Amino acid sequence: MSEIESAKQETRIFNPPAEFAKNATISGMQAYQALRAEAERDYEGFWARLARENIEWHKPFTTTLNETEAPFYKWFEDGQLNVSYNCLDRNLKNGNAAKTAIIFEADDGKVTKLTYQELHGRVCQFANGLKALGIKKGDRVVIYMPMSIEGVVAMQACARIGATHSVVFGGFSAKSLQERIIDAGAVALITADEQVRGGKQLPLKAIADEAIDMGGCEALKSVIVYKRTGGNVKFVEGRDLWMEDVVANQPDQCEPEWVDAEHPLFILYTSGSTGKPKGVQHSSAGYLLWTMLTMKWTFDLKPNDIFWCTADIGWVTGHSYITYGPLAVGATEIVFEGVPTYPNAGRFWDMIARHKATIFYTAPTAIRSLIKAADADEKVHPKNYDLSSLRLLGSVGEPINPEAWMWYYRNIGRERCPIVDTFWQTETGGHMITPLPGATPLVPGSCTLPLPGIMAAVVDETGQDLPNGQGGILVVKRPWPSMIRTIWGDPERFKKSYFPDEFGNKLYLAGDGAIRNEQTGYFTITGRIDDVLNVSGHRMGTMEIESALVANPLVAEAAVVGKPDETTGESICAFVVLKRSRPTGDEAKQIAKELRDWVGKEIGPIAKPKEIRFGDNLPKTRSGKIMRRLLRVLAKGEEITQDVSTLENPAILDQLKQAQ
Ligand code: WTA
Repeated sequence: MSEIESAKQETRIFNPPAEFAKNATISGMQAYQALRAEAERDYEGFWARLARENIEWHKPFTTTLNETEAPFYKWFEDGQLNVSYNCLDRNLKNGNAAKTAIIFEADDGKVTKLTYQELHGRVCQFANGLKALGIKKGDRVVIYMPMSIEGVVAMQACARIGATHSVVFGGFSAKSLQERIIDAGAVALITADEQVRGGKQLPLKAIADEAIDMGGCEALKSVIVYKRTGGNVKFVEGRDLWMEDVVANQPDQCEPEWVDAEHPLFILYTSGSTGKPKGVQHSSAGYLLWTMLTMKWTFDLKPNDIFWCTADIGWVTGHSYITYGPLAVGATEIVFEGVPTYPNAGRFWDMIARHKATIFYTAPTAIRSLIKAADADEKVHPKNYDLSSLRLLGSVGEPINPEAWMWYYRNIGRERCPIVDTFWQTETGGHMITPLPGATPLVPGSCTLPLPGIMAAVVDETGQDLPNGQGGILVVKRPWPSMIRTIWGDPERFKKSYFPDEFGNKLYLAGDGAIRNEQTGYFTITGRIDDVLNVSGHRMGTMEIESALVANPLVAEAAVVGKPDETTGESICAFVVLKRSRPTGDEAKQIAKELRDWVGKEIGPIAKPKEIRFGDNLPKTRSGKIMRRLLRVLAKGEEITQDVSTLENPAILDQLKQAQ
């Protein structure tokens, strides 16, 4: 039975624990329904109320939603604010100055704690340092950093001076970094000498140098380097500076730059079905509002919580639920440098116990790999750790299969903690469809219901609503404050990707399929309906990987498909035709390795195909179209039962059955 089938047939229901529901911000389904009804009654009034209650405005807004240039929606347009002010200064005024903002744990276990006062001082100093380098409002700054206090400081400092940051995940290659620096037109790059993960030191500055040396980064004037390891790095005179020198002697106060509500807070590149990664552009006010509300609603954040989101700041989850959301609501949060399996696979559970984490938010891939590890080695089984501090668990980034859900519920939550399975995307800025822990009865494998104000629906190809029980296309019918504003530098692509003509430019197209349960109306996400893969919760376009492969001088043609994987959700399977004859045996293995490393260099190690299969050709229709449907069946190792009579070269299928 497929995961989707099993989710559809799932009948177990877990009601919110009474004690949890009693104290929750949104307590009980009636409270949830009341908020939904408020949004339906007066959509703009609903959002205006929340924006007034949650954001501290420098200049209050008078218009809520401007739809005149739809789908380029504007929210709270004439209001002014500063996001860093809302995250930091506000906490100093609210009596949180001495409260711990960040508990940072390094790869080697060293713990550093920072109060809101200290974090504010660090951000101000760095913001002043950036200004001294001539970086100003509207400039773009690329951040290529490890998980660190400094990474959060860098992002917040950009927000403070109104510079738009674009964080590039530390696992991306020089070429990926170069492309993003160029596309964003960045004037500065903030990086580190090295990063430390799982006891290993990995270069960052050297990769940054390589990226810049590839050319095209003419706008880039400064490279600021955080000294993490003290490892040997090259310095370019007049361009490169140590972060410690940039902040030296800078005052720990910095008047924030007040920006318009729509000012771009950040650009974050993500994969689409075609072409190059897209720079998803987010606003300041609408984005901030939603990170705050989802911290309060989905995570039910309370003043004494110790919140831990295990994502990397290089992904949107790290933006919304490490750098912005938790700080904006005055939380104490854990920031972790390392990996879940070092020094052993009990690391997460050990950290929860030591720091008394109350809310834990991670990805299904991590859970599945830790299940395996616990099965293999009793010592790292969560039963050996005191997890009694936990009160809420979360899941993000990919579907969580009911088996993993149950394990998480029993072994980590000890059947006490609700699990919020949060469906959302880089483009949505924050959670969209998720249970509310003090209200929603949980069903394993379902992200349940949309948050109040989010008009999610399942429609057919013509945009008509489908009845519950029928699978279709996931859309959002009304704009919401934290939605993507445009694709940086490519408004046409924005329109085509998300508000296509087929739907009258009115429905936001998520790119996922979904089905709603006939009885409950609960949503289950059935996976991407475009050529985007989700490997370990990382989004990747099949076309991107194909382009990387064909850029190799050996390769004539390549097609990439996803294959279901027990641990990573999906894995990458590449079908390759070489310019020379089809290799076999050791030679095939050798070339497959070369190609994997090549993709690692072109995009990053996360994009390396797990499997490579060689053929003299690819299965094509007579009109020359690659039949990906067949490739998916082959990747799974299943027999082809479909009609292959339209295939030009059926014999090719046998060759492609074999993996290298
Ligand atoms: C998938 C990550 C099922 C989905 C926040 C979406 C999920 C893509 C879930 C976005 C979930 C994310 N259940 N699928 N709870 N959360 N997805 O942009 O396919 O990295 O479109 O944002 O991940 O990935 P992105």
